[in-house]
Amino acid sequence: MRIRLRRLRQNGTIRSMVRENRVNVDDLILPIFVAEGKGIKNPVLSMPGVFQYSPDMLPEIMDQVASAGIPGVLLFGIPACKDETGSASRDDHNCVCQAIRLIRKRYPSVTAIADICLCEYTSHGHCGIVKDGKILNDETLEYLAQMALATARAGCHMVAPSDMMDGRVGYIRDRLDEEGFADVMIMAYSAKFASSYYGPFREAAGSAPQFGDRRSYQMDPADGRQAIREMRQDADEGADIIMVKPALAYLDLVKEAKERFLLPVATYNVSGEYAMVKAASDLGYVSEKKIVMENMASMKRAGADIIITYHALDVAKWLKEPF
Ligand code: PBG
Ligand code: ZN
Repeated sequence: MRIRLRRLRQNGTIRSMVRENRVNVDDLILPIFVAEGKGIKNPVLSMPGVFQYSPDMLPEIMDQVASAGIPGVLLFGIPACKDETGSASRDDHNCVCQAIRLIRKRYPSVTAIADICLCEYTSHGHCGIVKDGKILNDETLEYLAQMALATARAGCHMVAPSDMMDGRVGYIRDRLDEEGFADVMIMAYSAKFASSYYGPFREAAGSAPQFGDRRSYQMDPADGRQAIREMRQDADEGADIIMVKPALAYLDLVKEAKERFLLPVATYNVSGEYAMVKAASDLGYVSEKKIVMENMASMKRAGADIIITYHALDVAKWLKEPF
């Protein structure tokens, strides 16, 4: 047998020498839930190890992010009051804007990224403006832009629209540019599927829709070609980074994104993926470190440049340990 692939697997040194993909701490973004109020550190029950923090309590986690060398955090707001149009999302003093100012002042090595969507702020829990039980597309765009502008005024480096309205990337880009924020980057949730893997997030952010579901705007899990059209549209509208979400059940699309577009590709290892790994490892069915690092390797192998994950602090720690 002239070809023996096992020759390259005979010891750890060789395996590491020929290893094709590696996750690096600079690939990671940690999502953080910021709650309006003071002195809050609430555990999210379905996501062991994840908490909601009020802005004054953020240094506890931000110190860890900065010392681990994690380059970015993705901020989600939990407002005190919700209403029909999500007005707290446009308030320059809301909890996310406070968090951004704190990060800009005290953590200069960390990129502040604001998730842009109305669902955490609306009483009905939908990602857009609702009329007669319908989620309006074009009417929602200016509300999203107003939210993006508030976070830009607070100093965020990047906005990440996650609402899935058509045309929002171009609309937000134009409004940012008009108001003097040409340097604010856009990471578009481009191929975002209507997924049951978001369940724990909706508990964490209190953003479950009060009627219906998100299938009229988020994508059908069976559609791959449409995902490419979504990514192409966002790239054409000026997205700086495109995203596939969730990650693990959609790695075919991460690969397509990497092969077809010349933009950095992010993938979001979402709340349900995290919760399943935590639950199985807490029961002793799988080894947490090994399964998380295997998942990270899979996302890299598919082509992810950026991995948004609730495991980020653990991964940063494990990367420093011998494998
Ligand atoms: C808001 C938003 C959601 C997630 C990110 N931004 C929830 C949703 O669309 O219902 C999900 C993140 C996760 O599950 O970790 N639009
Ligand atoms: Zn939303």
